[in-house]
Amino acid sequence: MKIAVIGSGYVGLPTACGLASFGNDVVCIDNNEEKLKILNSGTMPLYEEGLQELYEEVKDKLKFSGQTSDINDADLIILAVGTPMADDGSANLQYIFQAAKDITPHLKNDAIVATKSTVPIGTNDEIERIINRSDIHVVSMPEFLREGYALHDFFNPDRIIIGTDNENVYNRIRDIYISHIPAERIIQTNRHSAELIKYASNAFLATKIQFINEISDLCEQIDADVSDVSIGMGMDSRIGRKFLNAGIGYGGSCFPKDTNALEYMARQHGVKLGLVSSTIRGNHDRRFNIASRINDQIKNLDASAKVAVLGLAFKNGTDDIRYSPAIDIISNINYKPIYAYDPKAMQNAKKVLSSNVTYTKSIQECVKGADIIVILTEWPEFKELENAEFEKPTLILDYRNLLDSGKMTIKKNVTYKRIGQK
Ligand code: UDX
Ligand code: UDX
Repeated sequence: MKIAVIGSGYVGLPTACGLASFGNDVVCIDNNEEKLKILNSGTMPLYEEGLQELYEEVKDKLKFSGQTSDINDADLIILAVGTPMADDGSANLQYIFQAAKDITPHLKNDAIVATKSTVPIGTNDEIERIINRSDIHVVSMPEFLREGYALHDFFNPDRIIIGTDNENVYNRIRDIYISHIPAERIIQTNRHSAELIKYASNAFLATKIQFINEISDLCEQIDADVSDVSIGMGMDSRIGRKFLNAGIGYGGSCFPKDTNALEYMARQHGVKLGLVSSTIRGNHDRRFNIASRINDQIKNLDASAKVAVLGLAFKNGTDDIRYSPAIDIISNINYKPIYAYDPKAMQNAKKVLSSNVTYTKSIQECVKGADIIVILTEWPEFKELENAEFEKPTLILDYRNLLDSGKMTIKKNVTYKRIGQK
């Protein structure tokens, strides 16, 4: 098929490359001139494992353009522009509505417009009204890509949700995936259900994380170990081990935005989502609680002490710092300078983190001679601390429970603290 993707961000780009690898002719439209320049130079403007390599393979099937008119012969147009959180917690839909307006005059007869960006229930009804053409089919096709695993999740989706009442439209979209994805994973539902599946899934995962973080706080008071509790709980197939890792709270461009949008949308319909509300609040407060734990430790240091922070991205595998807890935590540590290192996110962090941070080129340079080392992002690279030697007394605050507790607690000169242990 001929497919157009509107928006070349963390969702649009992997989707465009993935669909091109299925043999479709894809054009990716973006209104960000700077991004287009990078894309047309053959470079991916964001980091995703394997994306640059995949692009090299599919580049003769994939075009980048700033002209919406270039979608003119597309059978399927995928909307993947940002739907960021507005100040009042609702989803900011100006970009997706703008994209809908921009494409309307260029849509060929009987084209399908599929909204991949996460949008509140009923948004696709509004997009249909904006396009206002009875020959065009508007479908909800939420994305479930995790940053850092976008290509993995594209090629191995747990499910593909196609929100449309039109059997023929469902089959046309199904045909794109059917030779690559097991048929039983391709689900048809109506548009509102498809929109809600996305929000409810993210809100549930976010609540699961907040739940284990609260249990972790209890573990610290009753001398239990949250890592063991997670394992024991996770062995119940109804619970599952994933997303039960206690830490500093969730960040990213999705969970914070989607939980707020779901709460807001439910309230608009007079429904109180108590669990979602307490997850939002508890998760937000947690990052400041972590900052005060660090400040409690720093109080005992003298002025020449060195504080090192490993991790700035909201999670490992990405350069994205949107709503990253690490950024808020560092901004609330009462000490300067702080030495920081992150394998991918330092460029983005420099744009938002004030000057009292010294960025270092490696883990070694960051932790060398440090009195306190704080781990805030679960990058596997940081596990090299397990084999490091420490010449001076060093406090290691492993707030992602990344390191092997057994190794760290017996290490010379090291005082090791984790989340969810007494
Ligand atoms: C977005 C939404 O934020 C998220 O809610 C949804 O789940 C998936 O799509 P993401 O891909 O991370 O996530 O958005 P972002 O990284 O902001 O990329 C959006 C892209 O669209 C940017 O490249 C931006 O330049 C482009 N864009 C934005 C347009 O092309 N046109 C617009 O009008 C607005
Ligand atoms: C999420 C959903 O997983 C994905 O399906 C959806 O399409 C977009 O939102 P993403 O936000 O990229 O993906 O990251 P995810 O891997 O879900 O992690 C979200 C946050 O939760 C990160 O800050 C991560 O560090 C944190 N997290 C995750 C935990 O604190 N504990 C866990 O056990 C898992």
